[in-house]
This record gives sequence, C-alpha cells and structure tokens, in this order.
Amino acid sequence: MKNIKLGKTNLSVPAISIGCMRLNSLDEKLAVNYINGALEKGLNYFDHADIYGNGECEILFGKALKILKTKRENIFIQSKCGIVPGVMYDFSYKHIMESVDGILQRLDTDYIDMLLLHRPDALVEPDEVAKAFDELRVKGKVKYFGVSNMKPMQIELLRKYLKCDIQANQLQLSITNSQMIRHGLEVNMFTEGSLDRDGSILDYCRLNDITIQAWSPFQYGFFEGVFLDNDKFYQLNSVINMIAEKYGVSNTSIAAAWILRHPANIQLIAGTMNLNRLDDIIKGSEIQLTREEWYKIYLSAGNILP
Ligand SMILES: NC(=O)c1ccc[n+]([C@@H]2O[C@H](COP(=O)([O-])OP(=O)(O)OC[C@H]3O[C@@H](n4cnc5c(N)ncnc54)[C@H](OP(=O)(O)O)[C@@H]3O)[C@@H](O)[C@H]2O)c1
Repeated sequence: MKNIKLGKTNLSVPAISIGCMRLNSLDEKLAVNYINGALEKGLNYFDHADIYGNGECEILFGKALKILKTKRENIFIQSKCGIVPGVMYDFSYKHIMESVDGILQRLDTDYIDMLLLHRPDALVEPDEVAKAFDELRVKGKVKYFGVSNMKPMQIELLRKYLKCDIQANQLQLSITNSQMIRHGLEVNMFTEGSLDRDGSILDYCRLNDITIQAWSPFQYGFFEGVFLDNDKFYQLNSVINMIAEKYGVSNTSIAAAWILRHPANIQLIAGTMNLNRLDDIIKGSEIQLTREEWYKIYLSAGNILP
C-alpha cells in the first residue's frame, strides 16, 4: 500500500486514512470489527471530528480501541474542531481548548496526533489560535496541527502568528469535484472551469509542503451520492469500468487511483464502513494510472482540455 510523507514532518503515513464520520452507523461489535480489519490491513490513520455523530463516533472509536487493546503509539488519530453545528464557527482560544478536552475525553486518550480547524471562522483572531495551539502542544495534548477547507490566504494569516507548521489541509476532492485541478487547466479563459474558487490551493499546498487530504473521494456534489455505478455519470463510469477491466480491479479502485496518481501526494480519506471496499481502495493505491488514463477519466467527467 502507498505511503506518503505527512506535511513537513518526517512521518510516513498511509495514503489512505480511515474517515470516521459514518462510524456511528455501526453498532459496537461491527465498529470493533471494522477498526480491527482496517488495522490488520495496515491502515492506522484515523480521521475524526468532534461533531461526527454529535461525538458518538469518537466515543465508539475510543471504546473499540480499548476492546482491541490497541497500543496508542501504533495508531495516528486526527480530529477537528471549530464548528458549532447550525450556530457558528468558532476558532476562539476558549472553544479550541474546550473542544480538545472533549475530544480527548470521548476518545479516552491522553493526546491526539493531529488537530485540524474544521472550517474557516469569519471572526478568527489568529493570535488566539496561536495561543491555543502552543498550549496544546506544550501540554502534550496535540502533536501536529492542520486546517480544513481553507484557502491560501487564510492559512497565511494563521501562519503569521503560529509557532508551529500547518501540516495538512483537508479539502473536498473527487473526480466529479475537481475544481482545484480544473481551474489550473483553464487559465485565463471565459469558461466555467476557469473560475478559481479556492485561491489556487492545490499549488499553494504543494509549494508549502502541506498534505492535501481528500474528503468525500467517491461522492458528487455536496453529499449528493456516489458517482460510481450512477447513470448520471454514464460516460465517466464507462471509462472507469474499461480501465478497471484492464487492471483487473473494481471501479472503486480506479476512482481511488485517480486521486492518488496526482503528484501532490494526496491522502485519501475513505468514508466506507465496508472492509471489502477498503480492499478495493488499497488496490487503487497500488495502481499507477498512465498519464493518458488519468486525463481520459478527467475528460469523461465532463471537463475540457482547451
Ligand atoms: N473536512 C471536512 O469538511 C469533511 C467533510 C466530510 C467528510 N470528511 C471526512 O472524509 C471522510 C470521507 O467522507 P465520505 O464518507 O463522504 O466519503 P466517501 O468515501 O466518498 O463516501 C463513503 C460513502 O459512500 C458509500 N459508497 C457507496 N458505494 C461506494 C463505492 N463504490 N466506493 C466507496 N464508497 C461507496 C459508502 O458506503 P459503504 O460504507 O457501504 O461502503 C459510504 O457510505 C469522512 O469519514 C470524514 O472523515 C471531512
């Protein structure tokens, strides 16, 4: 399975992270089985957020680790804070500190490996974020820090105040949600795809050694559904299926391979709760699509090459 270097750290981590947003769709026994299965496959990087299942996902995960007697140092746990669902975004010192205490309590652990700020807060006071990150690091509650859904200038604003590096930026990316790639190919044009909606975040992250973590890698729209085997994406599926046949793998593998083929060393956050599908995603990480295949898939999703 492919590994990637995480941000500016010296850590080599799996290119596939287990997304835990849907963990509470499983009961305790199934959750234990799923986490154990993932670990047996070498997938030891887990992505959480304080809001997933209103905290239930972290609680379930913490219980599973105890049942499995997993050594804490053998896994990488990442969580996020900063969203108060339906109310506001909050990057204040108080909110960050309280959120991390809640995360640690629910996960039943002394520290998390990485904390991400979940979505940009319009009222952010970067010196407060810096104070919180500093204290969390010194107290040993958080080892590394990152962001999610942020543009370059928002990260730059934080970096002016932070003493630590931003190691990751978690962003929505799938074949059908590839605007961060698309606008780089339609530069200076009047096409819809030429619109730069993210401040060239892909190039910025590459320039600054920030790992892009792709969330919802198999979904289209904003949680509208899976594009694979979906008639709305007939052309895309025909091409993916043809390439899947060539490699003797499933369409899931090819959709994963398309993200992982990008030289930005993207980490894919897989939201499946199905171990067989996880095997397919791992197979995808072992396939190096040709340049021609990568572009063929890109075009079949309705994109253009000017
Ligand atoms: N930072 C953010 O703002 C943000 C936002 C959303 C999510 N996330 C993170 O990203 C992770 C992944 O998000 P996601 O769950 O929306 O992503 P996803 O991996 O694209 O979607 C997984 C869902 O699609 C289903 N699915 C159906 N057919 C599939 C196929 N052929 N291949 C793969 N999955 C298939 C899965 O069902 P089965 O379980 O039956 O396979 C599962 O319900 C989350 O767990 C969370 O950690 C972050």
